[in-house]
Amino acid sequence: MSASSAAFRPVAAMLGLSIREVSQALRDGRVSATELCRKCINQIQRTRYLNAFITITEETAMEQAQRAHNRLRTGKPLGPLDGIPFSVKDNFCTENIETTCASSMLKGYIPPFNATVVQKLLDQGAVLVGKTNLDEFAMGSGSTDGVFGPVRNPWSYTTLYREQSTEDPDSDWLISGGSSGGSAAAVASLSSFLALGSDTGGSTRNPGSLCGVVALKPTYGLLSRHGLIPLVNSMDVPGIMTRSVHDAATVLRIMQGRDERDSTTIQAPSTPPSLPEHFDIRDIRVGIPKEYHALGLSQDTLDQWSRVATMFEQAGAQVQEVSLPHTQHSIVCYHVLCCCEVASNMARFDGLEYGHRSTVDSSTDAMYATTRHEGFNNVVRRRILSGNYFLLKSNYDRYFVKAQQMRRLITEDFTNVFRSGIDVLLTPTTLSDAVRYSDFIQEDNRTRSAQEDIFTQPVNMAGLPAVTIPTALSCRGLPIGLQLIGQTLQDWKLLTVAHWMEQQLSFPVIHFHGDSDERELDRSVRERTHTIGS
Ligand SMILES: *[C@@H]1O[C@H](CO)[C@@H](O)[C@H](O)[C@H]1NC(C)=O
Ligand SMILES: *[C@@H]1O[C@H](CO)[C@@H](O)[C@H](O)[C@H]1NC(C)=O
Repeated sequence: MSASSAAFRPVAAMLGLSIREVSQALRDGRVSATELCRKCINQIQRTRYLNAFITITEETAMEQAQRAHNRLRTGKPLGPLDGIPFSVKDNFCTENIETTCASSMLKGYIPPFNATVVQKLLDQGAVLVGKTNLDEFAMGSGSTDGVFGPVRNPWSYTTLYREQSTEDPDSDWLISGGSSGGSAAAVASLSSFLALGSDTGGSTRNPGSLCGVVALKPTYGLLSRHGLIPLVNSMDVPGIMTRSVHDAATVLRIMQGRDERDSTTIQAPSTPPSLPEHFDIRDIRVGIPKEYHALGLSQDTLDQWSRVATMFEQAGAQVQEVSLPHTQHSIVCYHVLCCCEVASNMARFDGLEYGHRSTVDSSTDAMYATTRHEGFNNVVRRRILSGNYFLLKSNYDRYFVKAQQMRRLITEDFTNVFRSGIDVLLTPTTLSDAVRYSDFIQEDNRTRSAQEDIFTQPVNMAGLPAVTIPTALSCRGLPIGLQLIGQTLQDWKLLTVAHWMEQQLSFPVIHFHGDSDERELDRSVRERTHTIGS
């Protein structure tokens, strides 16, 4: 949708724009920052049935929007994000705003500070409209395992999908992917122009792909983790979700860099103010990892992968098959390392400093045990137990040390490929398009869904940057994304190639069933759905 068409339908059409377009509209006075904020909050309310949000921060958002409005009115905007509504996954700390990690353990926890990345956006005038839903403590790949209930994929309610479904929209709907499913759904359903997720093994790219939005996982250390409640410290990184690659680049530029509160952060390489509009794709070498032809890859996804590879080739890029021989071990290796760090990280939740505390107080031990039993769900408990098992003195060498060695081999696979002259790798992001919730939660499907992250987890173990780009709709009318992986600290080059790729594709704007100017859902659908959770 272009900014010029927005001129005719001033506010209603605004929500589908990119940050770049809507920022221009704010400067031109076609919409005010307060109107825009109000529109986004209305859109959140109207799409409550998606369960994408845990908290709506209406009051502070309107105050922030008013301040942005004053700056814009006097011609003194702070930058490209001034007045832009955004949302944040509920595992980033926000001052005076409840931060739950979608867990009973942290319900009611009000942090006294903002995570560094959140603060950086606020300092640029961006307007925080809400905190988004996730899997409990970001452990999962469906956004189905939080205490506030599952997130519904907005594409479940598009005309295309509804027309081929014979079932009720209340029983036949799709998962949003996870664990940052709420953030992806917020951007896809036009409630926010930008959302932050976190990415430990694919938690930003997976839902980005399933919900049809751009999702960037930057190089490890490029963005501060201060205020992001940790899952796996050696792999966690804040993720960026937007409607265009250009927007993701703008946000990365603002958030990146050293933070004295996070010793793992690194100095960001200097980057030009925006991505180059013209660059020669013929200078780029694209690698296609042969091991990524994984079992369970859907025909649709495979077709898109080949189509885009051919597209690169026809434009003059060098496309060649490469090998990452240790890929097959990555799922198991990730599992061991993840559980070990989880077991250690979760030890802080003991009912003393913050969060839930059990009323059982017959002894300190009993209080710890019941607090943790009551506070954590099964998924979290299972990971803690496994982690502690792997870390037992008798098991340490057999599991933890072996997994660390394997992690190095996986990293070296990437290093070797890039050293041979490859600039980016092109891979699928997920095995298929979004699955139905009712299928996803079946026990035997859960084991299978562990395989789902095979294309994303190795990237976290190696600390590399990667981005998923919405590529096409599947035969069911659902988004398919493809992933580009870059070299450490070459985030800018990665985004330049992604930008080129995005421009060759024409991914459609979401169109809700019974859509009107207001992008409302069909009345009957709305009445039959209800707000889940809080
Ligand atoms: C932290 O974020 C909250 C929520 O948006 C905001 O109200 C508060 O002013 C921010 N703190 C600072 C120091 O800017
Ligand atoms: C999950 O299970 C159902 C029925 O048992 C099956 O039809 C479906 O294909 C499975 N989904 C996935 C993603 O494996």
